[in-house]
Amino acid sequence: MVNTRPMALVTGASGGLGAEIARVLAQEGFDLLLVARSENKLQALKEELEVAHGIAAQVYPCNLAREDAALDLYDYVLGRGLRIDALVNNAGFGDSGAFHEADWQRQRDMVQVNVIALMQLTRLFVPHMVKRGCGMVLNLSSVAAFSGGPYMSVYYATKAFVLSLSEALSEELRGTGVTVTALCPGPTATGFESAASMGASSTMFRHAASASEVARDGYRAMRAGKAVCLQGAFTKVMAFGSRLVPRSVACKIALRMNR
Ligand SMILES: NC(=O)c1ccc[n+]([C@@H]2O[C@H](COP(=O)([O-])OP(=O)(O)OC[C@H]3O[C@@H](n4cnc5c(N)ncnc54)[C@H](OP(=O)(O)O)[C@@H]3O)[C@@H](O)[C@H]2O)c1
Repeated sequence: MVNTRPMALVTGASGGLGAEIARVLAQEGFDLLLVARSENKLQALKEELEVAHGIAAQVYPCNLAREDAALDLYDYVLGRGLRIDALVNNAGFGDSGAFHEADWQRQRDMVQVNVIALMQLTRLFVPHMVKRGCGMVLNLSSVAAFSGGPYMSVYYATKAFVLSLSEALSEELRGTGVTVTALCPGPTATGFESAASMGASSTMFRHAASASEVARDGYRAMRAGKAVCLQGAFTKVMAFGSRLVPRSVACKIALRMNR
């Protein structure tokens, strides 16, 4: 049965920014399809949000590093007759260390989750939105999109891809009623830092923003149909600064921050 309230699909909703974005969406009256690997955390969030906001949430546990995961998720949505009004491609992770020493499987999985799954879900759901003449996509990019990132090279490259893709789609879809927004946060207090094995070496996270603040700003930007949301002063300085200095200098600054 087609949902009567607007529904948002949020990937990476089991914690961090994804869970906070889901909280904002629930407050705003969206039903939710919550996606991540950690079923227990998704279930707990579903119960919290249904009680707090009277919305309906469903959980869909899956590993987006699997090649057919995005297609399986799409089939699930179609099979249930759900209408996705907002797609939030938030799932993602980073990894710290030298590229030539990194674990290949982990790097491959990062590209699969941060890039391929995001791209495929966008490709699958946007045609339905265009047909209806309305819909919103929020893609998680990062301040990392604005330069090369020594010692987090693949992660930075994935976020540059997400920013570039989102900006292009935002233009392509102008006039269709469908918007695509790239959210570019700076360091944010979530599970990201430990998942990326950044540990005590990370200086960037000393003044991390709160996930709830970033989620609120991202939601507002998505609602406003903005192509890019540079979240927080740090991201704005890095994004504008990267235009003023040669790319090699921006890359050296990133190197200092990542070490
Ligand atoms: N925190 C920051 O400083 C920061 C800054 C800029 C951009 N970002 C971006 O924000 C997004 C959210 O990250 P976060 O900071 O909230 O980190 P987080 O707390 O580590 O959350 C990451 C989320 O992604 C999910 N995920 C990871 N691998 C997955 C997989 N293989 N399949 C399905 N889900 C997967 C995790 O769920 P499970 O583990 O349950 O699967 C979790 O819900 C990411 O795209 C990240 O790159 C973060």
